[in-house]
Amino acid sequence: MIDLRSDTVTSPTDEMREAMSSALVGDDGYGEDPTVRELEERFARRVGKESAIFVPSGTMANQIAIRVLTKPGDVVVAGARQHVVIYEEGAAARNSSLQFRTLNDHRGTLSLEDIQRSLETANHHQPEISAVFVENTHMPSGGRVWQPGELATLKEAIGDRPLHVDGARLFNAEVATGIPAAEIVAPATTVMCCLSKGLCAPVGSLLAGPESLTGQMRVERKRLGGSMRQAGVVAAPGIIGLTSMVERLAEDHQRAHRIAEAVAQRWPEVAEEVLTQPTNLVVFKHLQADGLLEYLSAQGIIAGTISPGIVRLVTHREIDDDATDRVAAVIKGAP
Ligand SMILES: Cc1ncc(COP(=O)(O)O)c(C=O)c1O
Repeated sequence: MIDLRSDTVTSPTDEMREAMSSALVGDDGYGEDPTVRELEERFARRVGKESAIFVPSGTMANQIAIRVLTKPGDVVVAGARQHVVIYEEGAAARNSSLQFRTLNDHRGTLSLEDIQRSLETANHHQPEISAVFVENTHMPSGGRVWQPGELATLKEAIGDRPLHVDGARLFNAEVATGIPAAEIVAPATTVMCCLSKGLCAPVGSLLAGPESLTGQMRVERKRLGGSMRQAGVVAAPGIIGLTSMVERLAEDHQRAHRIAEAVAQRWPEVAEEVLTQPTNLVVFKHLQADGLLEYLSAQGIIAGTISPGIVRLVTHREIDDDATDRVAAVIKGAP
């Protein structure tokens, strides 16, 4: 089967498996795992932040960001379709008594006008906005990226309020724009990134930010049950993800574009949408999404939906040129 459901389906590479078996480990609960430390330090440097913590999942990284940047009852502005808003089982409310003020994120970014309007509502008997959370790349819009300068302008508009970047696929944004990750997230207070998506590590995400928040991040990780012990075994493949798997994301982007071209040819009404999706996600509206998924499955291709009638096809390391050609041909012949 050709599995296009997600880039999370990637398996660790042989090099990663070897690194796992030879990783130096210690008890990370005591801060004594040298491999975890190396991963955290490398990531912090890579994204230009003072320090970082290794956590089991991207969801936990977002949830820790909420807990260190807000207090119960606070309001956070975010895009209506962001992961932290709709794909984390209501964790922000359940764990942290947080509410979101959601803005239109149809094209992946938030408009400055919408942000400014939200900030002004405090003058009209509504709660103050405490922080802004954005997603880059933005999954539901087909992996769209924040363009150079847009995050800096947003940060300027929100003043001292913290800005968190859900960068589950931050390195896809780096590769798509050619701008180093550190530059992309320079205006952000905190940034998270997943190792277990296109970077192919089996598990783990990182949350980076200022040194002043790291101690509290570790406390919140513990509270959420994410403090690990000899975690070097799973941090080791993460180091390889960061050092050897970023550049190859360009291949995923090229293959996604070839699939997008087939989609555009078959369903011209979504051509503009899919042909402008710049990374490894092809997301489009289809009136008979379930029927399309069944048709693809009968042809040996597994795809998914992210909401009713919205199909998602994701390229990753295990989708090579032959698989891409096959997918394109099957899509062109779709009923
Ligand atoms: C944009 C975004 N943020 C956060 C996450 C959460 O990552 P995890 O599945 O590791 O919890 C995902 C996962 O798909 C994601 O796509």
